[in-house]
Amino acid sequence: MLPIDEAFRKFKSRLELNDKEQQNAIARHTEVREYMDTKFKSRSFLTGSYKRHTKTKPLKDVDIFFVLDEPTRDYRAKAPSVVVDDFYNALVAKYGSKAVRKQDRSINIDFGVLVDTKDNTDYRILSIDAVPAVACGTDYEIPDIPLGKWIKTNPEIHATKAIAAHQAYSSEWKGLVRMVKYWNNNPKHGSDKPIKPSFLIEVMALQCLYGGFGGQFDREMQSLFSTLADRIFEDWPDPAGLGPPISNGMDQTRKERAKKLLTAAASEATVAIDHVRKGRNGEALKAWRDLFGPKFPLS
Ligand SMILES: Nc1ncnc2c1ncn2[C@@H]1O[C@H](COP(=O)(O)OP(=O)(O)OP(=O)(O)O)[C@@H](O)[C@H]1O
Ligand SMILES: [Mg+2]
Repeated sequence: MLPIDEAFRKFKSRLELNDKEQQNAIARHTEVREYMDTKFKSRSFLTGSYKRHTKTKPLKDVDIFFVLDEPTRDYRAKAPSVVVDDFYNALVAKYGSKAVRKQDRSINIDFGVLVDTKDNTDYRILSIDAVPAVACGTDYEIPDIPLGKWIKTNPEIHATKAIAAHQAYSSEWKGLVRMVKYWNNNPKHGSDKPIKPSFLIEVMALQCLYGGFGGQFDREMQSLFSTLADRIFEDWPDPAGLGPPISNGMDQTRKERAKKLLTAAASEATVAIDHVRKGRNGEALKAWRDLFGPKFPLS
């Protein structure tokens, strides 16, 4: 029988990027970047959770910043929708209107990859988010369509904070973040994820995981779900102190739902831990599988 801690280690490694996935991600982002180079004067780099290794599975929405050079930089003087429209039209010309979608701050390119019942994608990434950006000192500004303005961000600061948190947590912090993000994606919640945006999970984890890794994944997860439930109503500013609060992505109703689902996850975790204590390892594995989804191993 698979011991719980080993099950968690297997789960953790299943949520990590393997070589084949990395090769596919490189091929896809290189293709998009090379194409966009022919359309816009910009330099591009990978960012977001993909770059920070806090992305969960199935692997989708790999973020690429396209930092516009002169003269395309005068987009900055215009409404955010102008650059988003132009990026959209350029991408539609290559990938077709069925594959390309405008989002609040980026354009999503969907590669039409199918996800099987075990959340496998044959080592392929599902999609890329192309984010137009302009440099602003050492920070960047990106368009925000619903706000109707450009917002400041700094991916380097987010990355530095994630690295520091990871190191302070015996290099288990990123793995735990990926696990909660995987829980957030569990189809049992319906099409609406409990926590939105999922970056909020990472932002909350910067504060909710503290005091060092206790050594047992099941207990870490139980206490993390419980702390996230307790603190979901708080305001969560941008950790870099630049952009709008990350918690603005959820209204009161959404927060109430998130609290309910996080509290339920914490209780399910307590039950699973109790199963182990009473020697019912198989029951514990099933409880964790039900909580997280198909990538949590039963054997
Ligand atoms: N409100 C904000 N203010 C400033 N920067 C932000 C804000 N929201 C997101 N960002 C930055 O933009 C990046 C991409 O945002 P996104 O919503 O794709 O999150 P993510 O961390 O990549 O998570 P996911 O795994 O959901 O893709 C974030 O990683 C963060 O660096
Ligand atoms: Mg992202």
